[in-house]
Amino acid sequence: MKSSDIRSKYLAFFKKRGHAIIPAASIMPLEDTTTLFTGSGMQQMVPYLKGATHPKGTRLTDSQPSFRTDDIEEVGDNRHTCMFEMLGNWSLGDYFKKEQLPWFYEFMTEEVGLDPTRLYVTVFAGDSGIPEDEDAIKIWQDIFGNTTTARDGKLGFDPNIKIYTYSSNWWSRAGGPTKMPVGEIGGPDSEMFYDFGEDHKFHENSTWKDDLCHLNCDCGRFLEIGNSVFMQFEKQEDDSFKPLPAQNVDFGGGFERIVAASNNDPDIFKIDMFAPIIRIIEVTSGKKYEGDNLAPMRVIADHLRAATFMMGEGLEPSNKMQGYVLRRLLRRAAVKARHLGVDAALVIKQSIPGILEEYVSAGFLKAGQTDRIIEVATTELTKFGKALDKGLRELEKCDAKDLNARFAFDLFQSSGFPFEITEELAKQKGVTLSKSDFDAVFQTHRNDSRTASVGMFRGGLADQSEVTTKLHTATHLLQSSMRKILGNEISQAGSNITPERLRFDYTFSGKPTPDQLIEIENMINDTIKKNLPITRQIENKIQAIKSGAMAFFADKYPDEVSVYIVGNVEKDWFSKELCGGPHVNATGEIGGIKIFKEESLGSGKRRIYAKLVTL
Ligand code: SER
Repeated sequence: MKSSDIRSKYLAFFKKRGHAIIPAASIMPLEDTTTLFTGSGMQQMVPYLKGATHPKGTRLTDSQPSFRTDDIEEVGDNRHTCMFEMLGNWSLGDYFKKEQLPWFYEFMTEEVGLDPTRLYVTVFAGDSGIPEDEDAIKIWQDIFGNTTTARDGKLGFDPNIKIYTYSSNWWSRAGGPTKMPVGEIGGPDSEMFYDFGEDHKFHENSTWKDDLCHLNCDCGRFLEIGNSVFMQFEKQEDDSFKPLPAQNVDFGGGFERIVAASNNDPDIFKIDMFAPIIRIIEVTSGKKYEGDNLAPMRVIADHLRAATFMMGEGLEPSNKMQGYVLRRLLRRAAVKARHLGVDAALVIKQSIPGILEEYVSAGFLKAGQTDRIIEVATTELTKFGKALDKGLRELEKCDAKDLNARFAFDLFQSSGFPFEITEELAKQKGVTLSKSDFDAVFQTHRNDSRTASVGMFRGGLADQSEVTTKLHTATHLLQSSMRKILGNEISQAGSNITPERLRFDYTFSGKPTPDQLIEIENMINDTIKKNLPITRQIENKIQAIKSGAMAFFADKYPDEVSVYIVGNVEKDWFSKELCGGPHVNATGEIGGIKIFKEESLGSGKRRIYAKLVTL
C-alpha cells in the first residue's frame, strides 16, 4: 500500500472515532528544552497527559515526524531509520484499554489489511510493585478468540500463542520504571508485532542465533508496528509512582514499518518513501541494491531523507546542537557514498525534490524551498569533500608509528575525517586501529568539554523534571517583565535551561540598571504570587502574532501554532508566547525566582540568569 494512503486512512479512522487531528510539532523543539529533537508523538502532549486541558478536546490524533539521535548508529539493517513518522492517538482521561486495543487491531487488519495470522502482541508482566496488566490480556484474548497466553515471552515463540508477557512492556521516555527520573510520566504498554515468517530466517543469521527467538529478541523476523501506552503514573521523589489525574492512552505506530508490513516485505527501504532514493543511488553509483551495498545504501537514503527534512524546517549545518547532528548526517552519508564510488552531493541533489514533495503534500513542510535546500546541502557536502581530501593527504604523510587512536581522533576533530576511513587506510600501512581506543579518546574529550547541552545528544529524553518546567515558565515571565520595564525593544536571542538555573539571551541597545533588575524580579515574583493560570491554545500563527504573542524565530513555526498564555486568555494577559511547552499549570507552582547575574555578550546582545527560590 502507498504510504500516503496509510497516513490518510489512519487520521480518518481516528477522526471518525471522535479524535481531533492536531498539527505535528516541529521535529526540532522550538524553544530550548533539553531535547534536541522531537523523538515521539507524545512529546508535545506531556502537559496534557499530566492533567492540563487540551484546547482540542480529549481525543487527539496526528502523524509526528520524529528523530532519534541514539538510532543513528543502528541504521543499515532492514528496519532501523533515525527519522520516522509516528502515527499517534491519545485519550486524555477519555477512553481506555477496552476501546484502544480493539481499534488498534481493527486499524491494522481492516484498514491496512494486515493478515491477522501474522499479528502477535506483548503485554506488561508486572514490575516495580505494579501488577501484570490482566485487563489488556483479557481484551486481547477476546480479540484473538484465543485464551492461551505465554507468561514469559523470553521463553520462546509459538505461532499458536498470540499473547506474550514481558516485564519490559513499560514505556516512558527514559525506559523502564526504575530508569524514570522524578517528574517523568509512564505506564504499562502493549505492543503489536508483525511476523515476516520463518522463511526469512533472520534469527539464524544473526548474533542471536544461539538464543531462543521470541517477539522482543530484535533479530528482525518480528517487526514492532505499534505501541499502546497506558499512561497512568508520574515518578515521585521517593521512587514511588503517583497516579496521574486521569488514565490516558498514548499510542504510537511506526508509520514506515506499518507500510513495510502492508507490503509483507521486511525491508523498510523498499517502501515507496525510500525506493526512489535507493534507485537514485543505484543509478549514480552503477551498483545494485544487494549484498554488501545494502547497508551503505540504506544509511545514505535514511540520512539524506532526515537531513532534507531538517533543512526543510530551516535548519542549517553547524557545529552546535541540532545543526551539528545535521552536519553529522550529511557527513556520514558522504562517507558511505565514497565507499560506493558515488558523490553524495549528486545523490542528494537528485533526491531532494522527491523527498520535499512527499512532506509538503503531507502538510509537514512549506513548498518552494527546493533550490535553497539543494544549495545548503551541496555547499556543505562540497566543503566536506575537501576536508576528506585533506585528511587523506595527512594520512598519507603520517608515519606508521604515529598512526594511533589519538591521531585518528585529531583528524576527526579537526576536519570531521571519519574513523572508518582512517581505519581503512591505516590497514594499508600495516596498522590496525582499535575502535574502542578511538571511542575512549573521544569519551575523554567529551568528558573534558562537557556542557549542559551534551546530555541533549542522547536524544528522545527531555528533562521534564518539575524544576525545569518551573524555570521554563519563569523564562516566559522574565521576557514579559523585561519588555514591560525595559521596553518592547527586548527580544529573545536564545535561552538555555538546566535544573539549576535559567539563562536568557536578549537584544537590547542599553543596559538594565540594578534598580531595573530588582523591578523585573519583583514583577515576576508578584505574578507568581497571583497564581495566574497558564493555558495552551492552538492558534493561527499570523493571528497569534497580531494579537501580541511573542515568537522567537517566527518563520520557523507552522501555520497553526501552540501558544502559552499566562493570565486571562482573552485580553490583558501577562504573557503570550508561541511555545511547545511544557509549563506549570499556574504561576504559583514556580514558588519564586531570583536574578543572580546579568552581563553583556557584545554586539547589542545581553545575557541574564535566574534561579528558583522560596519567597
Ligand atoms: N510514546 C510511545 C512510543 O514512543 C507510544 O506513542 O513508543
